[in-house]
Amino acid sequence: MPMPSATPETGPEKQVVDVRIENGHALVTIDNPPVNALAVSVRKGLMQALEAVNQARCKTAAIVCAGRTFVAGGDISEFAGPPPLPHLPDVLDAIEASATPFIAVMHGTVLGGGLELALACAWRIADGKTKFGLPEVNLGLIPGAGGTQRLPRVIGLERAARMAANGKPVNASTFEEFGGLDLVFSGDPMAALAGFRDALPARPANTSTRPVEDADLTALKAEITKSAKGSNSPMIALETTALAATMSFEEGSKIERRTHLDLRDSAQSRALRRLFFASRSVTRPARLKAIEPAPIHHVAIVGGGLMGAGIAAASLASGHRVTMLERDTESAQAGKARVEAIIAKDLASGRISNDKAEARRAAFSAGADYAAAVDADIAIEAVFEDPEVKRAVFKQLSDVLSETALIATNTSYLDPNMISQGMPGPGRFLGLHFFSPANIMKLVEVVGTSVTTDQTMATAFAFARGLGKIPVETGVCGGFIGNRILSAYRRQADYLVADGASPYDVDKAMRGLGMPMGPYELQDLTGLQISWANRKRQLAAGTWPGRYVDIADKLCEIGRQGRGSPATKGWYDHTSGAGKPDPEIEAMVAAWRKEHGTAQQTFTADEIVMRIMAAIVNEASLILEEGIATSDTAVDIVWSEGYGFPKHLGGPMFWAEETGMDRMREAFAAIDAQSPGSWKAAGVFKG
Ligand code: NAI
Repeated sequence: MPMPSATPETGPEKQVVDVRIENGHALVTIDNPPVNALAVSVRKGLMQALEAVNQARCKTAAIVCAGRTFVAGGDISEFAGPPPLPHLPDVLDAIEASATPFIAVMHGTVLGGGLELALACAWRIADGKTKFGLPEVNLGLIPGAGGTQRLPRVIGLERAARMAANGKPVNASTFEEFGGLDLVFSGDPMAALAGFRDALPARPANTSTRPVEDADLTALKAEITKSAKGSNSPMIALETTALAATMSFEEGSKIERRTHLDLRDSAQSRALRRLFFASRSVTRPARLKAIEPAPIHHVAIVGGGLMGAGIAAASLASGHRVTMLERDTESAQAGKARVEAIIAKDLASGRISNDKAEARRAAFSAGADYAAAVDADIAIEAVFEDPEVKRAVFKQLSDVLSETALIATNTSYLDPNMISQGMPGPGRFLGLHFFSPANIMKLVEVVGTSVTTDQTMATAFAFARGLGKIPVETGVCGGFIGNRILSAYRRQADYLVADGASPYDVDKAMRGLGMPMGPYELQDLTGLQISWANRKRQLAAGTWPGRYVDIADKLCEIGRQGRGSPATKGWYDHTSGAGKPDPEIEAMVAAWRKEHGTAQQTFTADEIVMRIMAAIVNEASLILEEGIATSDTAVDIVWSEGYGFPKHLGGPMFWAEETGMDRMREAFAAIDAQSPGSWKAAGVFKG
C-alpha cells in the first residue's frame, strides 16, 4: 500500500511550488518528487502561491501535481522533531478561507496530507484511476491537519470514520459515490480542468462550516477493535472523527492536532515508523548500490507445489514471463492448475481485471522439458527439501541456462553452500527464501553463499523488490534468520510445557502479546511432521542444543500431526472444524512430566511471554553477533513480515529495548536456570 513519503524535504532554496495566472485563473503546480510529500518547502511554497492568488483576486485556483501522483502524504522524516513552520493546518485553513475558490485536480494516490489538502479546496476533480485514503494509522498516527474533521463533513461520519480508522484507500468511483468528488475524468487533466471551469458550479460552503449528522458507530467500533489487533491508533482515529458530530471544526481540529502530535512520540508510532524506514533501507544494501542489476524478463520455476506455484504467481503479477518445470507432465499440469487457481482467486475477488488475468495466463507455461527455460534470466528451485533432488535439478539447469542466468534455491533449512557445490558458475547461485503463501507474503530472505557475487546479489535484490517483496539479506546458518529464531521460540515453549505450562496457556499468552496465533496453533496449521523430521536429523547429527522435550514426537507417533493430518488432530482437536483444547493432550503432557520427574511450576501469562521473548532475543542477538543478520532492524523486519510479530510492537529487538534490557536479562537468567546447558548466551545476556 502506498505510504507517505520518507524523502527528506528538498530545502527551501528549491522551487517546489509554481504558480501561473492566465485569464484570471491560477494554476498552482507542486513538484516535489517522488510523491509530492508536503515537506516544509511545499508548505511555504503553497503559502506564497496563495498570496499571489489572493493579490491577483483570481477567479479560481487549481492545484495540480507534477509526476506520478498528487500529494501522497506528509513528510514523515519531519516527525522525529517539532514540525517546522508553516504548519499544514494553517496552510489548509488559509486555502479554504481564500476569496478565490480552489480546485484540487488529482491523479495517482491522494493520501494523508494530500487528501487533507484536497478537502480544504472548494472542488475536487480526479482521474478515474486515483485512490484516496488516510493511511496515518499504518504509522501509529491519526491525521493532523483537519482530515478527521473535514472528511465527515464531505462524505458523512460513518464512511469517514471507517477510512480514518482502517487506513485503506478507496478508488475514485467509490469516493465519487461517497460525494467526495465533483468530477471524475479520464485523459488530459488540463482539458478536464478547462471543461470544469467552463461550467463552474456555484461555490459550495467551506467544508469546515458544514454540519455533520451523527451516526451509530457501535458496529464499526467492534470491527476496528478486532482488526486493530492491539494497535491503538485505529480506535483513536475513529473516536477523533466522531468528534465532528458534536464539536465545531475548530474545536475538533484542535483535539485532532494535539492527539496527532502526542501519537508521534508514542512507542507504537516510533515502532511502525522505524519499520517503515527500515523496510526501505534493508531492502537496498549499501554495498550493492553502485551495481547495475541485470534485467530479468523470463523466470523459470522448478517445482510447482505450494511454494513454486506461489512464486510463479508473484512473478506473473509483476509482469514476468514464467516457465514452470516439473518432474513429469502430470505434475506440471497440477502445478499449472495451482497457478491458475491463484489467478482465478485474484480475479474473483476483484483484485485484478479480466485483461490482467488473461495477460498472466498468456505469460505462463508449464512442462517437464528444461529446454523451455533456455533463455530464462533466473531459475528458482522449489522442489522437495532433499539435497540430492535439488542437486540434480541444479545440474539440469546449469546444462540449459546461459552462464549469466541466476540460479536460486528456496530451501528452508539446507545449506546453499553445500547443495551448490561443484556446480558450474557458482557465483550466480544463491538462496531466495520465500514465505508461504508466496504470492502474498512480502518477506524474502536473500542468502548469499561464500562465493555468490555482488552482481548476483544486486540482481536478486532488484528482482525481489520488483515483485513487491521485502528482501532481507541473511548469512548461511540452519534456518537463516527467521526459522532459526522460530526454532528457539518453539524450544522455549516446549520447555515451559515440560515444566508446567499448558500448551493452551502458552498460545493464549502469545496471542495476548499480539501474535496472530501461538506456537502450538501454528504447528497444527503447518503440520508437525516437517519439524519432527528436522529434529530427528539434528538428534542423529548430535546438533540438538541441550534439553530435549519429545512431547511433539509422541503426538506425531500417534498420528496427531495437525489440522490437515488424517486424524485432523494435533495439539488441538480439529474434528469439528475450529481447533478445541483436548483433555487427551493435557493427560499426555501430565504423564510425560511424571515420567520425566519435572517439577510442576505455574507460569503467569507475563512470565510465559517474557521467557519466550528472552529466547527469541537471545537467538536474534547470536545471529547478529555471527553476522548472519546485518542489523537489529533486519531481524525485526523478518519477524514482523514473515512470522506475524505485531508491527506496532516494532519487532522483537525493538520490543526488548522498550521493555527494558534489565527485564530481558532477568528472564534469560530464568530460562537458563530452568533448562541448564540448553542456551548459548549471546553477549548481551552473558555474565
Ligand atoms: P511441495 O511438496 O508442495 O512441492 C514440491 C514440488 O516439487 C512438487 O510439485 C514436486 O512434484 C516437485 N518436484 C519434485 N522433484 C522435482 C524435480 N526433480 N523436478 C521438478 N519438480 C520436482 O513442497 P513446497 O512446500 O512447495 O516446498 C518446496 C521447497 O520450498 C522446499 O525446499 C521447502 O523446504 C521450501 N519452502 C517451503 C515452505 C512452506 O511453507 N511449505 C516455505 C519456504 C520454503
